[in-house]
Amino acid sequence: MKFGSRIISTGLGSPSLKYTNDDLSKIVETNDEWIRTRTGIRERRFIDFEKGETITDLCVRAAEQALERAQLKASDIDLVLTGTISAETFMPNNSARVIGRLGMKGIAGFDLSAACGGFLFALHTANAMIQSGAHKRVMIFGADVLSAALNMKDRTTCVLFGDGAGCAILERVENPDPLKDSMVLGSKIYTDFDATDALTINAGGSRAPTFRHDLHEKHSPYVQMSGQDVFKHAVKGMVHAATELLTELKIPITDVKWFVPHQANLRIIEMTAKYLNFPMDRVFVNIDRWANTSAGTIGIALSEMQEQNKLQKGDLVLIDVFGGGFNYGAALVRW
Ligand code: ACO
Repeated sequence: MKFGSRIISTGLGSPSLKYTNDDLSKIVETNDEWIRTRTGIRERRFIDFEKGETITDLCVRAAEQALERAQLKASDIDLVLTGTISAETFMPNNSARVIGRLGMKGIAGFDLSAACGGFLFALHTANAMIQSGAHKRVMIFGADVLSAALNMKDRTTCVLFGDGAGCAILERVENPDPLKDSMVLGSKIYTDFDATDALTINAGGSRAPTFRHDLHEKHSPYVQMSGQDVFKHAVKGMVHAATELLTELKIPITDVKWFVPHQANLRIIEMTAKYLNFPMDRVFVNIDRWANTSAGTIGIALSEMQEQNKLQKGDLVLIDVFGGGFNYGAALVRW
């Protein structure tokens, strides 16, 4: 292999509003005990929509933190990728808005739509772009503002999600040695089209555009979910992706230092870890403070781990995600 890539920095963008479970119980019929025991969530953050806060603001905050930690300038980046399903607008996309806000010139950026899988799909793409020689230093985001698509009267969904953005910068490694270098060792992504409508946002696309309110009874503009279906598919998909990846790389799970799963529900995380035979004390969990930030979860987790000095050079970090589509996958990174 001529080129590989390694993650050199991370950052996160936090929204300005915080809602505890008790705060939500004043809006919809729910309670702290139900939410905590069913999901592990205690609070979540939402953008301040009334004050004009946007997903781009979150991404810019995350990017600035990642650049500062890496001692880089925005002009050192040569590609921007965003995994999101809630860009400010379809056009311009999120990556274009970030490029504009950071004053980047002469480079490109585009978005990937893979729901909660967004960060991992962006990581997979960035790694392939760098391996091909096309790019040297890629800034990726997993970011979502699903509060824009939450029905705050539907207690079965609105308590589960929060807003947030995570960023990582990947850099080229020349003639990498996969046995010892810090690098992305491999990744696998999967899409199983779900015809059961277990997890959807049905309006807002071209089938039921936002201006066709007459269609919204049939095609909801809100997140809709069959929780138990998603639960089963999530555990199965994450176990499958992680197992296939480790088998292909011929690396036993006992060599992995950190398991960083998508933060959808603490019970999904615990069950996935159990099936993978991985100890919970080395599973990174922050769902209690963030809820499910969709594509945001992994970048936010890595950034908090970097902040807390949990990631030491040489650590093997297993990332595992699952989301609407269904899109899911895993990546193994040597830090
Ligand atoms: N507060 C209080 N009661 C509630 C709430 C709430 N927020 N939501 C549902 N209930 C009630 C239901 O109405 C039901 O009452 P009933 O028995 O009187 O009819 C009862 O609680 C049980 O509801 P269930 O849906 O059966 O609850 P379950 O134990 O399945 O938990 C949950 C629901 C937490 C959504 C679970 O199915 C789950 O975690 N699924 C995974 C889905 C997920 O995490 N999705 C995130 C997005 S997808 C992703 O990122 C991978």
